[in-house]
Amino acid sequence: MRNARLTLDPAFTVAPVPRRLFGSFVEHMGRCVYTGIFEPEHPTADEDGFRTDVLELVKELGPTVVRYPGGNFVSGFDWEDSVGPREQRPRRIDRAWRSVETNQFGLAEFDAWARKAGTEPMMAVNLGTRGMQDACNLLEYSNHASGTKYSDLRVAHGSTDPFGIKLWCLGNELDGPWQTGHKTAHEYGRLAAETGRAMRQIDPDIELVAVGSSSRSMPTFGAWESTVLELAYDTVDYVSLHAYYQEDDDTRDAGSFLASAVDMDLFIEQVVATADAVRARGKHSKFINLSFDEWNVWYQKRPHHGEGVQPWDVAPRVIEDEYSITDAVVVGTLLNSLLRHSDRVTIGAQAQLVNVIGLLRSEPGGDAWKQSIAHPFEQMRRLATGTVLRVASSSDKYSTTDFGDVDVVDASATYDEDTSTVSLFLANRDLEDSATVTVDLRGFDVSRVVTAKVLAATEGQTRDTTNATGAHDQVGLRPLQDATVTDGVASVVLPPLSWAVVQVAKA
Ligand code: AHR
Repeated sequence: MRNARLTLDPAFTVAPVPRRLFGSFVEHMGRCVYTGIFEPEHPTADEDGFRTDVLELVKELGPTVVRYPGGNFVSGFDWEDSVGPREQRPRRIDRAWRSVETNQFGLAEFDAWARKAGTEPMMAVNLGTRGMQDACNLLEYSNHASGTKYSDLRVAHGSTDPFGIKLWCLGNELDGPWQTGHKTAHEYGRLAAETGRAMRQIDPDIELVAVGSSSRSMPTFGAWESTVLELAYDTVDYVSLHAYYQEDDDTRDAGSFLASAVDMDLFIEQVVATADAVRARGKHSKFINLSFDEWNVWYQKRPHHGEGVQPWDVAPRVIEDEYSITDAVVVGTLLNSLLRHSDRVTIGAQAQLVNVIGLLRSEPGGDAWKQSIAHPFEQMRRLATGTVLRVASSSDKYSTTDFGDVDVVDASATYDEDTSTVSLFLANRDLEDSATVTVDLRGFDVSRVVTAKVLAATEGQTRDTTNATGAHDQVGLRPLQDATVTDGVASVVLPPLSWAVVQVAKA
């Protein structure tokens, strides 16, 4: 048996839970849009061609914000191709994914879908092949009421009301040599500053995200953020972070993979330090917050990536990772990392929503289901409410190749004053042993367990078990029996390799 002791106190808080932390991402990539959220021929399609089976699952997940339309895709995207009468929209080459983009789903469709899904749109502009004027035109088309060239074009296209998009990404991953229009930090920083300034002249209420590093392992990491923020500090509100994690299939070094949140913690803390150093140097008063707008498990080394896909296919099956119990535990710890840093990470977007490294999967003409990783996402989106608590943790350790000694138990917690409920989000990273977690809650008036659910392997399953077409509920949440609270101290027994949510409240 492994052990961990956590101490929480109502006075030790991080921040109010940021509404936008539990976001996701829809890119024109593979089958995320086509046969993912949009499939007019599907038996469940509504009058807009949206798959209502997928839409219902999206509503259950409840991503609070959805980034669109890319990703690498956006760096070659001409937004004008995606608006107006569908039959007149051109088919275009998508250089990033070597696919053909039909443009049958575009800006108006995304606006309508986001409204139906009850989520906030987060729009990225193309700063790869295009620049300030095109970004301004897109903003005018989206947010200006009427009476100008692009706003009247939107009205003529049938969208009388402006889309009213608040959140704008100034490009995507322009630090990466793979990106169409890859730039140096100086080139990008100047472009972001000038584009952002011009966009604010049109709509002063927008919020702007500058491109940060595509991962912590980028050779330019740190220097990129520093230069970009030196040039664009006054203009932007956020800097982005992207990170993808995978288990090495050759070594099956599960311990290091399970400790991915250690890397995420470090990444966040180093970007905060960099942004705050620029703040000090520039004698700025405002803080730059962090938008972790692409994160997930992604098995980039597995052979199935793009297998059978031909160049210039429409909506090819690319990176349709099937997520296991192990992946769900890792995703739970990545969400813990975001929550622990919610004083500075105020936007999160899991990548991506459907099929492409998706929370959800769907088959063309067929079924739709939640992947294992959707469960911690949905539970935390629903139950992490009120204020994020600082967790003082003393856990048994295990040793990893990549991160040295790491806590066996990973945790985050929130307190909702309105319902006097403490919510604990816990992961046991030990593959063999259960873990007893003792939580000192004596500062709270709590005496009963109201929720206790766990995701772990059940009889006959392994840590590699996944959900699949026709087998939607192999991996999911089960009741957790071993959760009690006595005299202000909660005790929870986590099975080996598991993720759990436990809520305790007033009598
Ligand atoms: O989410 C898949 C891809 O990963 C995105 O297009 C890109 O931004 C990142 O490299």
